[in-house]
Amino acid sequence: MLSSLVAGYGHAFPSRIVTNDDLSKTLDTSDSWVTSRTGIVTRRIAAKEDSTASLGARAAENAMAAGQCAANDIDAIILATTTPDHPMPSTAAKIQSMIGARKAFAFDVQAVCSGFIYALSIADHFIKGGAVKNVLVIGAEVMSKVLDWTDRSTCVLFGDGAGALLLQAKETSDRGEALPIARGVLSTHLFSDGNFYDMLYVDGQATSSNPCGVLKMNGRAVFAAAVEKMVESSELALAHNQLQLNDIDWFVAHQANKRIIDAVAERLGIPEEKVIITVDKYANTSAATIPSTLSIAASERRILPGHTLLLSAIGGGFTWGAAVLKW
Ligand code: UT7
Repeated sequence: MLSSLVAGYGHAFPSRIVTNDDLSKTLDTSDSWVTSRTGIVTRRIAAKEDSTASLGARAAENAMAAGQCAANDIDAIILATTTPDHPMPSTAAKIQSMIGARKAFAFDVQAVCSGFIYALSIADHFIKGGAVKNVLVIGAEVMSKVLDWTDRSTCVLFGDGAGALLLQAKETSDRGEALPIARGVLSTHLFSDGNFYDMLYVDGQATSSNPCGVLKMNGRAVFAAAVEKMVESSELALAHNQLQLNDIDWFVAHQANKRIIDAVAERLGIPEEKVIITVDKYANTSAATIPSTLSIAASERRILPGHTLLLSAIGGGFTWGAAVLKW
C-alpha cells in the first residue's frame, strides 16, 4: 500500500514586521487589546515585490531542498490560497514556472483558512491512488491586499506568508513485510456548510467594475463556530485512527487566534506543552498557517520523525477539517 510521507518542509515570510503599536498609530487600537484578545504581537506584511506566488515559490524551494528533491521530479503542485495573484490562471501555475517544475501539473484550491487541509487531502488521495510520486502541497497568502486597513475588528488579525510540504509516495511494506508503524498522512476529514457563507467573506467580485473587495467578518460567530467545529473534527480524526490523546505528540491548529486554539485544546484535553503556537509572531495567514507552523516547528526540531500530529482548521464557507499525520 502507498503512503504519503513528509519528505521536506519549508516556509517563507515577507521581511517587514508590523507590530500592534505600529497599527495603533493609524487605528483606534492598542497592543494590550490585540494581545489579550488574540495573542497576536506582530505580523509580516508583503512588500510590493512579494506576491502569493513568490512567497509560495520560496516555501516550495525550501521544502524541495530539505527533501533533496529536484524540481524536475515534482509531479504535482497543489496550492491552497484565498488570495491568488490573479483570478485566472492559477497561482500554482505561476509557482510551477518560478521553481521550474516542468513535469508537474498545478492547480489552486480555495477553501480559505482550511485550504491546506483540503490540499493535503487531495494530494494524499492522488498519492494513494498511484497517480503521482512527489507532490508539493503549499499554503500561501497575501491577506494584506484584501484587508480594510481602517477596520480595526479585522485588519489587526491577519498577516502574509507561506508554508509547504513535500509529500512523497512510499510503499508501507518493504519486500513484502509490513512496516511496524504506519507513517505519513494517516487520514484527512473535510467538511463544509455554505449556510455560514456570509460570516466571513471578501465583498468584491472578479469583474472589471468591482475587481476586489475587502474582508468582512462576524468575529464572535466565527469564534464560536471555530471552537465547536475544530473540536468535532479533531475528535472524529482521533477516533478514526483509534488514537487516544496520549498518542498525539503535537496539536497544530489553524493559527487564527490563540484564544481559539487554547479553547479547542482545553475542550479536547490536550496539554499546553503539546500545542504549537506561531500566531503571536505571524498572525493569521489563512491557508499558510498550518504548513508554515509545521515547517517552523520541524526546523526548531520540536516536531521530529515518528511524531504523531493532529491538525485542525476552520475557514470561510464555512469549511473545516482535521488530519492525522505521522511525521
Ligand atoms: O480564520 C478565521 C478568521 N477569523 C477569526 O479568527 C476571528 C475569530 N474571532 C475573534 O478572534 C474575535 O471575535 C475578535 C478578536 C475578532 C474580537 O474579539 P471579541 O472579544 O469577540 O470582541 P468583540 O468583537 O465583541 O468586540 C469587543 C469590543 C468592541 O467595542 P464595544 O462595542 O464593546 O465598544 C469592538 O469595537 O472591542 C472593540 N474592538 C477593538 N478594540 C480595540 C474590536 N476590534 C478592536 C481592536 N482594538 N482591534
